[in-house]
Amino acid sequence: MTLPSDATFAPVEIQTRTGRTLQVREYTLDDFRPLVEMYKGFEPKRTAQGLPPPDVPRIAQWLDRLQQKSRALLAWDGPRVVAHALLCPISEAAVEFTIFVHQDYRCVGLGTALTRLAVAFADRCGFAEVFLTTELSNLAALRVYRHVGFQVTSSFGDECEMKLVIAGSSSPQARAA
Ligand SMILES: CC(C)(COP(=O)(O)OP(=O)(O)OC[C@H]1O[C@@H](n2cnc3c(N)ncnc32)[C@H](O)[C@@H]1OP(=O)(O)O)[C@@H](O)C(=O)NCCC(=O)NCCS
Repeated sequence: MTLPSDATFAPVEIQTRTGRTLQVREYTLDDFRPLVEMYKGFEPKRTAQGLPPPDVPRIAQWLDRLQQKSRALLAWDGPRVVAHALLCPISEAAVEFTIFVHQDYRCVGLGTALTRLAVAFADRCGFAEVFLTTELSNLAALRVYRHVGFQVTSSFGDECEMKLVIAGSSSPQARAA
């Protein structure tokens, strides 16, 4: 299942809390190498459910698989990719979200801003619900997701599932209701 191809994401500029201007655009195939570069230097590796993978061959394999089944937003600082947000459909109405922000750009509001943009994009793509799974120990991720309005729906072991029902959803289901 893939996201509808007619939904588009218009590039936007965002400001971090430190006043840096970043550009957010939808991922295209041309972005593969700069994205691999971001993950090559990403630390710590395997921080979120074993991701990102620890070395370039496995990073490239992972991203190659992802690009076939998901759509993604990238935050750029000039020519450098500094964050990656992924939307991976799990049903007609629901999409799974995950996000990675390079360590040089954390804790300045980028994760929260990019998550908001990804949720808005999921809405435009026609999804009514966004799900994610995260470790209960990942306090930064939990804080970002709560800022955006996600709520814990269940927990299992050291992980929890969170869900956001998109307000004013433009999904076919919501429009038909
Ligand atoms: C989780 C992640 C995406 C957050 O990105 P970010 O750009 O740092 O997010 P923001 O700056 O918007 O917000 C982070 C919030 O967590 C808080 N935070 C950071 N570390 C924290 C900690 N150890 N304990 C509690 N809060 C923490 C920050 O203060 C900030 O809160 P605030 O906005 O209220 O001040 C980023 O840390 C990351 O990529 N981590 C590695 C990959 C990952 O875990 N992805 C999530 C997969 S589920």
